[in-house]
Amino acid sequence: MPDTKIVLTEREIPRSWYNILADIPTPPQPPLHPGTGEPIGPADLAPLFPMDLILQEVSTDREVAIPEEVLDVLRLWRPTPLYRAHRLEKAIGTGSRIYYKYEGVSPAGSHKPNTAVAQAFYNAKAGRKRIATETGAGQWGSSMALACTFFGLECKVYMVRVSYDQKPYRRMMMETWGASVVASPSADTNAGRGMLEQNPDSPGSLGIAISEAVEDAATRDDTSYALGSVLNHVLLHQTVIGQEAQKQLAAAGESGVDVVVGCVGGGSNFGGLALPFIRDKIGGADIEVIACEPAACPTLTRGPFSYDFGDTAQLTPLVPMHTLGHDFVPPGIHAGGLRYHGVAPIVSQLMLDGLLRPEAYRQTDVFGSAITFAQSEGIVPAPESAHAIKGTIDAAKRADEEGVEKVIVFNLSGHGHFDMAAYDAYLHHRLEDHELPEEEIQRALKAIEPLPKPAVPA
Ligand SMILES: Cc1ncc(COP(=O)(O)O)c(C=O)c1O
Repeated sequence: MPDTKIVLTEREIPRSWYNILADIPTPPQPPLHPGTGEPIGPADLAPLFPMDLILQEVSTDREVAIPEEVLDVLRLWRPTPLYRAHRLEKAIGTGSRIYYKYEGVSPAGSHKPNTAVAQAFYNAKAGRKRIATETGAGQWGSSMALACTFFGLECKVYMVRVSYDQKPYRRMMMETWGASVVASPSADTNAGRGMLEQNPDSPGSLGIAISEAVEDAATRDDTSYALGSVLNHVLLHQTVIGQEAQKQLAAAGESGVDVVVGCVGGGSNFGGLALPFIRDKIGGADIEVIACEPAACPTLTRGPFSYDFGDTAQLTPLVPMHTLGHDFVPPGIHAGGLRYHGVAPIVSQLMLDGLLRPEAYRQTDVFGSAITFAQSEGIVPAPESAHAIKGTIDAAKRADEEGVEKVIVFNLSGHGHFDMAAYDAYLHHRLEDHELPEEEIQRALKAIEPLPKPAVPA
């Protein structure tokens, strides 16, 4: 029987990040200044980010060296294991070989610390004292709190109200690592106060929480903003996942992979696993790449490609991406980390270029797949990651119907230990599917009508 866990030694942690901007067939169009409509330059971003990160954002170098100080921290949990899902394969009766990269072994429980540690390092190096950020599911806020404590930075987290209420233990974890946490919309910022006036019971959204964190950072000299997804440098930092997975698949005796699967909120764990494989695909390898999203927040499957703001209060630059419109507030589904109106420009461009394909699932089907996984492999997956499990099971079933055996690898981006209320709701038939009417999508998209249009139509 082939091994269940394929592990690498610490010496095999990648020494550089892989930058797809060196190989992407169509480079993403530049972000635009919200006031002038002109492409933004490094100086425009300097109030929010340290220069090292701004330069990584625009770099087209294929390899970017990982600083020793960052490797020292990553070593606490990296390399992460790659599992052969023998028991899941048996449970669903597939002839395909399924592998998953398990990022839930980090202290915060997900892939997010891979970039949080790098971002905290570059901020501390630049002399910044404090970080303001948002969190959806609580995973990113926990990761930033953890990273800030390692590099001696203060951390303020604006946590989307619905997650703040659903996941008190996430807040406590962030506070344990020294962060201060408020529910968003909050009374601490102009953006938050404005939202609360419009709707005192707002469930919040990542778009609103980002507005609050950006405003906080822009109005204090000692503070930087940190984003847990979407931006080029965040996807760059996550590519340790895919690079390790490629070594591990080779160690398992696989000469190639047929299907790569990841869930997509802003696109960072998906990109982290998929980008090194997409490099091979650009080079001619025959790989199907599937991006899995919630039907309640169908950015890739139903959102047009457009310039849009990254946040609700229109404080960020305009970025070219698939979007549901910056004031779209997704229903309060339990995969809080997938409740974002936009997606990374890199992921959007790769989709336009036909290098990946999106699928959208209903949350009850996603939890059904999560239970199948928990009862076969043992790990209780994060609701976000469970989208990738559903995508994987569907892909294996399609292969069985075609009578072929495929090698499928997916990213298990985190564990669901703080999501048990969601499992409880599913197991006791209280979990609802949120149908998203076309009228609501069309209403939200009105917000992007006046914005500049990207040169490449959808
Ligand atoms: C476990 C987990 N997976 C996935 C995501 C989605 O984010 P991204 O698309 O940036 O990977 C999140 C976001 O919070 C998360 O916590």
